[in-house]
Amino acid sequence: MQTKIAPSILSANFINLEAEIKQVEKAGADMLHLDIMDGHFVPNLTFGPGLVKQLRKTTNLPLDAHLMITNPTSFIDKFIESGVHYISFHIETDSEYKKLLDRIRKSNVKAGIAINPDTSLSKVQNILDYIDYVLIMAVHPGFGGQKYIEDCTQKIQEISAMISKRNIEIEVDGGINYKTAILAKEAGANILVAGEFIFSSNNYKEVIQGLRNV
Ligand code: DX5
Ligand code: ZN
Repeated sequence: MQTKIAPSILSANFINLEAEIKQVEKAGADMLHLDIMDGHFVPNLTFGPGLVKQLRKTTNLPLDAHLMITNPTSFIDKFIESGVHYISFHIETDSEYKKLLDRIRKSNVKAGIAINPDTSLSKVQNILDYIDYVLIMAVHPGFGGQKYIEDCTQKIQEISAMISKRNIEIEVDGGINYKTAILAKEAGANILVAGEFIFSSNNYKEVIQGLRNV
């Protein structure tokens, strides 16, 4: 499977967001990672479906919404309507997973479950038939620019073994750079999210291609 690179706009310059998105698109990004934070599930706030809807008009890249919100059930329809291609919500939330994942899939959006560094994979086993991808957090969610937690590499290996031959993608989010991209990729990840590493560079193309080909 070819590695997909998903720049996280959390580290982009929001004043020039449209230009930033066009630049990563031109630089070869495969999708755009959107971090949705509610100030409750995580200690930070970002943006909601209104902005996503506008972003939809500025790019052809598939949009990947990562919902770090306490109550995904209340917002799922709005994100579906905003035109995203991927939606993940956290397994640590008190949600009716199967129902929610089903609703996402029925709208022709890829359904994903996100897992924090301190959460075990045990609950994932019985929802394997309901997901298109797993998002393994390699940092505690809330902020960009954090350090990759090394233990997560083993977790990627575990999920990789668990999904076996199923058509489920593995996305890794947090602290990705050339060094950690190798670890994540070798462990079985095929989607790498990178925020700070891409947007702090002055050559998006070199970094995106570099990450893809590590
Ligand atoms: C953290 C977010 C990440 C973040 C990754 O809560 O989910 O998507 O933007 O940023 P970097 O690559 O800077 O760790
Ligand atoms: Zn994210």
